[in-house]
Amino acid sequence: MTDHPASTGATSPAVPADLDLDLMEEEARRLIGEMAYAYFAGAAEEEFLLAENTAAWSRRRLHPRILVDVARVSTATTVLGAPLRSPVMVAPTAVHDLAHPDGELATARGAAAAGALLVLSSLATRSCEDVAAAADGAGGGPRWMQVYVLADRGRTAELVARAAGAGYGALVLTVDAPVPGLRRRERRCDVRLPDHLHLPNLDDGRTHEVGQGGFMAAVSRQFDRSLTFEDIGWLAGLAGLPVVVKGVLRADDAVRCVEAGAAAVIVSNHGARQLDDAPPTADVLAAVVDAVAGRGEVYVDGGIRRAGDVAKALALGARAVLLGRPVLWALAAGGPEGVAGLLGAMEAELARVMALCGAPTVADLDRALVLP
Ligand SMILES: Cc1cc2nc3c(=O)[nH]c(=O)nc-3n(C[C@H](O)[C@H](O)[C@H](O)COP(=O)(O)O)c2cc1C
Repeated sequence: MTDHPASTGATSPAVPADLDLDLMEEEARRLIGEMAYAYFAGAAEEEFLLAENTAAWSRRRLHPRILVDVARVSTATTVLGAPLRSPVMVAPTAVHDLAHPDGELATARGAAAAGALLVLSSLATRSCEDVAAAADGAGGGPRWMQVYVLADRGRTAELVARAAGAGYGALVLTVDAPVPGLRRRERRCDVRLPDHLHLPNLDDGRTHEVGQGGFMAAVSRQFDRSLTFEDIGWLAGLAGLPVVVKGVLRADDAVRCVEAGAAAVIVSNHGARQLDDAPPTADVLAAVVDAVAGRGEVYVDGGIRRAGDVAKALALGARAVLLGRPVLWALAAGGPEGVAGLLGAMEAELARVMALCGAPTVADLDRALVLP
C-alpha cells in the first residue's frame, strides 16, 4: 500500500502534481480574513525564529547516494507501534473553526483519508468525541490527544478519560507553554474567539474570554505552571496511555523525559510561538536523538515545509515529523480534500526524494545523507 513506483513518480490521482504552499497560504488568507490569518501565521516577539525554523532545514543539504536499487520505495513506518503510510503527521493546532466551517471534523476527515496520524489540540473547537467519530466515518486512522495540564488537575484527568474512551492512542503533553509567548501580532490584530465558537475540550464556560493580550494569553491562565518531570508519570498513570512530551529542545531534558516515563519526545519550539530566542529545531534534533539513544522515539516539528525537510529530519534521527501551519492552509483552502491532498503530496514527494537519495526505505535515511 505504501510502495511507490519511484521510477514513474506515480501518485494517487487526487494528489496535486505540484505542491505550492505559498499559493495555498495566500488562498487561505483571502478566505479566512486577517484576524484568523494573524492567529495562525503569527509567532512570538519579533518572529525571528519563525523564519529561522524554515531556514535551518533549507541550510542543510542532502548528500545523495547513487546506484542503489530504488525500483520500489516505501515511506511506511510506525510510531509507538501504530503503522503509518508516511512519517508525516498532523501537529496539534488550536481552533480549526477559524479555518473551516467544519473545523477539526474536516481536518480529521482529511487526515483519515490520507492515512495520517492526527494529534488533536486540547484547544480544538470540536469535542474529541466528535472528531473521533468524523475520523472513523472517513476510514479511521490513528489519533493522539494533546493536553495542557490545567491548574485544576481534575479537569485534565476528565479530558484524559474522555480521550481514552474515544480511541486516542497516546497523550501529547505540551510543556513549552507554562506562560504564553509574547504574541505581538495577536495583540496587534486583536485575535479573539468569535462568540459562536467554543473550546469543548477545555471548558464549557468560556473562562478563556480574552481581554487584552490575545487568545493564548487568555487560555493559558488556566495552565498549571508548577508542572515538573514527576508529572509525566502522573499523566501516564491516569488512563495507561503512552505520554509523548512536546516542546523539548535540550538533550538533557529529553533524557529526563524518557527516564520519567515518556514513550517519546517531540523536538519543538511551538512553531516559534513561545520563546523567540530559542533555537530552530533542525539545529538541536541530532543532539536529542543521540542523548535519547533509542530509549524512546523522537519526532520533530517547526518549519518543515518540503519533502526534503522531512528526509533531512529522518536522516538526523527523527522517527516522524509533524506539520502545523501547512495543514491549516490546506484546511482553509481545500477542506478535508485539501488536507488529504497536502498529506498525499508530501508522501509522494518524500518517495521521490528518497529515490533520488538512494534510500528505498525510511531506515535507509541515515545521518551520512545530511550535510551540515
Ligand atoms: C495556530 C497554531 C496553533 C497551535 N496550537 C497548539 C496547541 O494547541 N497545542 C500545541 O501543543 N501546539 C500548538 N501549536 C504548535 C504546533 O503543534 C507545532 O508545534 C507547530 O505549529 C509546528 O511548526 P509549523 O507550524 O512551522 O509546522 C500551534 C501552532 C499554530 C501555528
